[in-house]
Amino acid sequence: MDVVPPALAAAIDQHGGHLRVPHGRATVLVACAPGDAAVIALSYSCPPVRLIGELADLGGPVQRRAAQTLRELELLAVAEHARGTGVGTALLAASEEHLRQGGCKLVFAKVRQGDRQVLRWYRRRGYLPATPHEPVRVSLGGAVITFDDGGDGYQLVVKSLDATTRVARMMASAGSYLTVARRASPVTPQVTGQ
Ligand SMILES: CC(C)(COP(=O)(O)OP(=O)(O)OC[C@H]1O[C@@H](n2cnc3c(N)ncnc32)[C@H](O)[C@@H]1OP(=O)(O)O)[C@@H](O)C(=O)NCCC(=O)NCCS
Repeated sequence: MDVVPPALAAAIDQHGGHLRVPHGRATVLVACAPGDAAVIALSYSCPPVRLIGELADLGGPVQRRAAQTLRELELLAVAEHARGTGVGTALLAASEEHLRQGGCKLVFAKVRQGDRQVLRWYRRRGYLPATPHEPVRVSLGGAVITFDDGGDGYQLVVKSLDATTRVARMMASAGSYLTVARRASPVTPQVTGQ
C-alpha cells in the first residue's frame, strides 16, 4: 500500500473519516509517520452490510441490533516499509477503541485462508481464528444468528470488545462453532480473621 486512492482520500477528508453505508457508518482511520503527512497505514471498519441484509426475515429489531453490535474490520493494512514496528498493533487498538465507544460488542476480520503469519498476528491480539467455513453464532436480542466466511478463500478472526465476554469454540454433534461466552469472574480470596 503506497498511497490511499485519491477518491477515498477525498471522501475521508470530506467526512472526517466516516462514510455513510447501508445500516450505519463506516470508519476510516489512518496512521502517519511522525512529522510526515504521508499515510503509512489504514483501517476501514463497517457494519457487516451483506450479513445484516440477510437477516431481513428476522425483522427490523434484529437487523438494528446487529448493526449496533457487530462490525467488520474490512481492511487493516500497513505500508510494507513500515511493518514490524508496531504501527499495525497501534492502529488495531485505536480501531477497536473507536468501535467499542460506538457500541460494538463483536468485531471480526477476514484473513486469507492459511495465512499463518497474519492469523498468528490476530491471535496474539485477542482474536480467535475460525477454521475455514466454521460458523459463528451470536445471540441478538432473542434471535440467534449464524454467519461464516462465505467460502471465498478467507477465514474469520473474531474478538469480543466487551470486557465481560470472550469468543469461545463450542463442540456440537454437527461440528464446532464459535460463540460469545461469559468470562469467568475472578475468584476473590476470602480473608477471615483468626
Ligand atoms: C498484518 C499487518 C497489519 C501487521 O501490521 P504491522 O504494523 O506489521 O504489525 P506490528 O508491527 O504491530 O506487529 C508485528 C510484529 O512486529 C513486532 N514488533 C517489531 N518491532 C516492534 C515495535 N517497535 N513495536 C511494537 N511491535 C514491534 C511485534 O512484536 C509483532 O510481533 P507479534 O505479532 O509476534 O507480536 C501488516 O503486516 C499488513 O499490513 N499486512 C498486509 C495486509 C493484511 O494481511 N492485513 C490483515 C488482514 S485485513
